[in-house]
Amino acid sequence: MLLKLCSLLAFVSLSYQDCGCSSSNSTCSSSSSSSGLDSLDDLDYQMSSTPGYVDACPYGWKLFNRSKGAWCIRTFSGVINETAAETRCAKRGAVLTSFETAAERYYVFDQGINQMWDKYNQTSGMIWIGMKRKPECSTADYASLTGCTGANAYYWTDGFTTGTAGTYWATYQPDFKSNVQTCVAMYLLIGVSPTGDVRYPGSFDDVVCDVSIQASLYQSIRGYACGKKADLISLSSSS
Ligand SMILES: *[C@@H]1O[C@H](CO)[C@@H](O)[C@H](O)[C@H]1NC(C)=O
Ligand SMILES: *[C@@H]1O[C@H](CO)[C@@H](O)[C@H](O)[C@H]1NC(C)=O
Ligand SMILES: *[C@@H]1O[C@H](CO)[C@@H](O)[C@H](O)[C@H]1NC(C)=O
Ligand SMILES: *[C@@H]1O[C@H](CO)[C@@H](O)[C@H](O)[C@H]1NC(C)=O
Repeated sequence: MLLKLCSLLAFVSLSYQDCGCSSSNSTCSSSSSSSGLDSLDDLDYQMSSTPGYVDACPYGWKLFNRSKGAWCIRTFSGVINETAAETRCAKRGAVLTSFETAAERYYVFDQGINQMWDKYNQTSGMIWIGMKRKPECSTADYASLTGCTGANAYYWTDGFTTGTAGTYWATYQPDFKSNVQTCVAMYLLIGVSPTGDVRYPGSFDDVVCDVSIQASLYQSIRGYACGKKADLISLSSSS
């Protein structure tokens, strides 16, 4: 079994980053058991519902088992607008991730605050996520339109999220301020909110899409969270 998994990892390492087994050596033996176990920790995967296959996320991506299938999430640093964040996710074969569960949201928050602290030395900021205001609700007369009140006016953009359990709006949000806030970002706050208790760590706020640094540092973008479907990999094709 170990040999088989190690072979799998050697195979996977052709397209995935460092897996622990030497990438230049596809004959990792079962005697290298400790590095084999380290490798399994590095590569996030689960047994697939397709027999003989695993759902696997590339190195650095975290697997979440959604109702539509396995999904990989990874956060990145960047002081960029929402369009640029979408482009950077796309370069990784991904989109901005939405959240099916609170666990997914906690993960992005946790990774996000660590990267913000390490790279920008900031204790507050925001990270782009896969949620937007419905185009049909983005007009000044939205209040008179059906389906455009409060959180109903927003939708998950990643196309792979079921339900609203992963949603967590800040108090008084969304407010579609000045009828221009059509993107959504998550607050990365370490410790107490700089503005009192209405913006909780990990909560959402609707913001303008084309700005990264805001007058308020706590609303400045420090990263973006990408997501993509896990790869379906055969357990036998490499041995
Ligand atoms: C490849 O792995 C085998 C088994 O662990 C080892 O004996 C061999 O020296 C390695 N070859 C290279 C080029 O690293
Ligand atoms: C993943 O979720 C699906 C559907 O909810 C379930 O059938 C499957 O057993 C889960 N797989 C694992 C490895 O937990
Ligand atoms: C990080 O920010 C704190 C508070 O603003 C400041 O005192 C400290 O010098 C900064 N550290 C670095 C490495 O920039
Ligand atoms: C987003 O940022 C990019 C890169 O700085 C810039 O070229 C683009 O015009 C911006 N998009 C919007 C809508 O502001």
